[in-house]
Amino acid sequence: MTAAPTADTAPHQDFEVRPFDAPVGAEIVGLDIGRPINEADFRRIHRAHLDHHVLVFRDQQITPDQHIAFSRRFGPLEIHVLHQFHLEGHPEILIVSNIKKADGEPLGLGDAGAYWHSDISYKPHPSLGSLLHAQELPSEGGDTLFADQHLAWEGLSPGMQQRILPLKAEHSYLAKYEELRAKNPWRPKLSQAQIDKVAPAVQPVVRTHPETGRKALFVSEHFTTRIVGLPQEESDALLAELFAHSVKPEYVYRHLWAPHDLVFWDNRSLMHLAAGTPDELRRKLYRTTIEGDLPF
Ligand code: OGA
Ligand code: MN
Repeated sequence: MTAAPTADTAPHQDFEVRPFDAPVGAEIVGLDIGRPINEADFRRIHRAHLDHHVLVFRDQQITPDQHIAFSRRFGPLEIHVLHQFHLEGHPEILIVSNIKKADGEPLGLGDAGAYWHSDISYKPHPSLGSLLHAQELPSEGGDTLFADQHLAWEGLSPGMQQRILPLKAEHSYLAKYEELRAKNPWRPKLSQAQIDKVAPAVQPVVRTHPETGRKALFVSEHFTTRIVGLPQEESDALLAELFAHSVKPEYVYRHLWAPHDLVFWDNRSLMHLAAGTPDELRRKLYRTTIEGDLPF
């Protein structure tokens, strides 16, 4: 029996990085994530991720274990607080799906990304990036939008930049939870143990990407509740202005899913949004989420 090649000795994979005709994003063409990836190839993928912020790997027929193993190359993985939607035997995978099981119970988180957000910004250490792998796609709808928050920061007036640079904001997983549960009663009621895991976190309104040094706007409609130290009315007005600015069409790439797509985005650079799927059409994706640093 011959041993599988290790990451260091794996043969080179001859892939290309093709930037999209969009403000952000690139396709990686010619890479098979199911095969071992050597260090030099891995470094090119890492570089492309930093340069383009969202990478699309088409037609990746990989298993959950391969999805997890590739994700782990970038860091330890988060275990999502909604344990109800972990893939059985693989708590590193969150099932994102609108499908209901035979007993009527939801298979996964059906309304993930209903508002613009960056994954896990509600924890002191938000996520570095997430990898979503298509399992079952609807015949229409179900797109995912990505907005470049470096461009959003750079697009602010110097006066606004100066005003918000020193500010901090509170992020809370619970901010929209009850509103979503009212719309989607299948959403589980959170246990006290789950609520304890998602205490609000305070984050800089403008963060610096720890690997590139670029600044990015870091507030979201989904999780940001208030600017620390401002009267509520002023905080609401400022956040509304920033939310509207941060997702202007000139900062956005819209991903149209194809079978077996794997999409890997940088939560430190981007926000994302699920455009929505008609209820009667089935959609299922698997998500891994990489742990990140303390924002500064
Ligand atoms: C997510 C998410 C969006 C989508 O899985 O983190 O926001 O389009 N998903 O499913
Ligand atoms: Mn998300």
